[in-house]
Amino acid sequence: MPETLFPPRFVWGASTSAYQIEGSPLADGAGPSIWHRFCRTPGKVANGETGEPACDHYHRWKDDVALMKRLGLQGYRFSIAWGRILPEGRGRVNQKGLDFYRRLVDELAASGIEPMATLYHWDLPAALDDLGGWTNRDVVGWFADYAEVLFRALDDRVRWWATINEPWVVMDGGYLHGGLAPGHASPYEAPIVAHNLLLAHGEAVAAYRAIGKNQIGIVLNLEPKDPASDSAEDRDATRLADAQVNRHFLDPLFRGSYPEEMSEIYGDGWPELPRSDFDVIRRPMDFLGINYYTRGVTAADPSVPYIRSRRVPQPGRLRNTLGWEVRPESLTELLVRVHRDYTRLPLFITENGGAFYDPPSPIDGRVEDPLRIHYLRTHLLAAAEAIRGGVDLRGYFVWSLMDNFEWSLGYAQRFGIVHVDYRTQQRTPKQSAEFYSEVIRTGGANLARGA
Ligand code: FCB
Repeated sequence: MPETLFPPRFVWGASTSAYQIEGSPLADGAGPSIWHRFCRTPGKVANGETGEPACDHYHRWKDDVALMKRLGLQGYRFSIAWGRILPEGRGRVNQKGLDFYRRLVDELAASGIEPMATLYHWDLPAALDDLGGWTNRDVVGWFADYAEVLFRALDDRVRWWATINEPWVVMDGGYLHGGLAPGHASPYEAPIVAHNLLLAHGEAVAAYRAIGKNQIGIVLNLEPKDPASDSAEDRDATRLADAQVNRHFLDPLFRGSYPEEMSEIYGDGWPELPRSDFDVIRRPMDFLGINYYTRGVTAADPSVPYIRSRRVPQPGRLRNTLGWEVRPESLTELLVRVHRDYTRLPLFITENGGAFYDPPSPIDGRVEDPLRIHYLRTHLLAAAEAIRGGVDLRGYFVWSLMDNFEWSLGYAQRFGIVHVDYRTQQRTPKQSAEFYSEVIRTGGANLARGA
């Protein structure tokens, strides 16, 4: 008998997010989000691109589900646009917005694909941003109320709920460095934002316990940090970098406190926080979603604010078109660390994938993407290695189902296993999609054979 790499009910899926694929952000009474505004602010997004039309999924959702079915996907992780459900972010519910996601989850169910719905993938309603957005502690209640509307409407179909996607990116990109919406850069705001995101997650979990029958968790982007050398300076810088990205979120969720490095990083920006908040943040959840793309090799550099280090490119290693090192071993290490040091909860890889040097358009109807196949194959084997080491990994969602709007980088970076021609909206499964279908069909038995 050949060795089985993945457990029997392992879920094979793909991920997307609302603003990156839907298009038509104001259709049917939806309210604008911070990304709608950000894209219209000159200089914020490459080539002045916006989330319109993206993949026009708002109109093509049915064909897209059919495509997922053809690929053999068992799970689909998507996000819900808050402003479609509550155009002002709170108060009035927009039935048409709710209907869109209702139709989507019904179609998924009819196609035998299990939905994982993310409540927040970065598109805060602009009306809430006007009230301070994630810096205003009232957002905790606004988010819990919004979550409750969805739990009541869709829990019969949604098997897994993810509260917040990547709180670190929301904080770091949105409020500390400003490269992502809403584009603030303040060490005074960022720690408060992170705290409010975690509280919002905890209150949504509490609301779910009163209503929901399935599973709820959070999605963290975790990036292992390795020192560039053995020097005390590099090792110390690595400790800070790890605290800033990883432990800032893992510690409060699973240990009920922030790492002590926080005040070292944010100085007088680090606030006093009520102890009782941690009872909210660490409410028991059902799973943890992990987004993994790369690791960071870290060298001390006192001139860099907050983390006092820089990332050192590794010569001779494959990198994606964003410059991210391809390092599957770090995925194994990460999964083992989370399982060993933080939680025995079931884990999901909720995002993993890469933008590579694909031909910009299909050649003879085909898109050959050997580097993406290599990335997927080696990372799936790395995940299997963690499972062999005792990690309770329940599923894998590739980022992304299809090429889409890559935030401030616009449309040039293509992460999809399906190619999208943005002029015609033609979808063409890349060779990696065929490869992934075969992984699903064989339960991973084709992985060891090589790409
Ligand atoms: C993650 C985001 C996702 C996508 C990938 C490439 O940080 O969650 O929306 O942009 O990176």
